Amino acid sequence: MTVKVAVIYYSSTGNVHDMAVRLEQAATAAGAEVRRRRVTEIAPQAAIEGNPAWAAHVDATRDEPTATPQDIDWADVVLLGSPTRFGNVTSQFQQYIDTLGPLWAQGKLADKVYAGFTSSQTTHGGQESTLLSMYHLVHHFGGILVAPGYTAQLKFTDGNPYGVSHVSGPQSDLDLAGSTLEALDHLAQRTVAVAGRLAA
Ligand SMILES: Cc1cc2nc3c(=O)[nH]c(=O)nc-3n(C[C@H](O)[C@H](O)[C@H](O)COP(=O)(O)O)c2cc1C
Repeated sequence: MTVKVAVIYYSSTGNVHDMAVRLEQAATAAGAEVRRRRVTEIAPQAAIEGNPAWAAHVDATRDEPTATPQDIDWADVVLLGSPTRFGNVTSQFQQYIDTLGPLWAQGKLADKVYAGFTSSQTTHGGQESTLLSMYHLVHHFGGILVAPGYTAQLKFTDGNPYGVSHVSGPQSDLDLAGSTLEALDHLAQRTVAVAGRLAA
């Protein structure tokens, strides 16, 4: 059986987008069929235009497919991504989640593997609380939370057992660093492997 992975995420300025692309690559390399889907942008145009990096990212991803509830219905593994906003997920991400009521009512969000990823500006800027906010959803869905924990030696380097997180601010090297890339690969491989074992 080919494991189906949906990478569902929001990104304003590209950091979470880059993480999603890496997860897509790693899950594909692990033998999965992958749908990478960005959440629809709902911010006012004036807010987007007030931030050149945001406007550039909206422009660059304009033609990429957007997430629908059907993408989660389709998937065995759902990898959820959002930037950290005041220690929580973004309103755009939450807007997508709020379209899932009909699927939830039919029990169609249950029994899938879920895990999360985020990016924040600062090291202690609320990454873990953002991931835990996502995981509240997983409990309501009846999903199977597959956090990375410290299940591989590399997790002692990136240091986040709750999911995968990137620090995008000036104290980091801005681009995704080696340990974060390795942690993203590990998360993709682990969730695909667990979903494969569940199916068996
Ligand atoms: C309204 C707002 C709130 C934010 N809140 C936080 C925060 O609580 N902690 C933090 O470290 N960074 C915070 N940030 C910074 C973003 O999390 C960070 O720039 C992230 O890497 C953006 O991801 P993206 O490039 O995928 O949009 C905030 C940014 C905005 C615009």
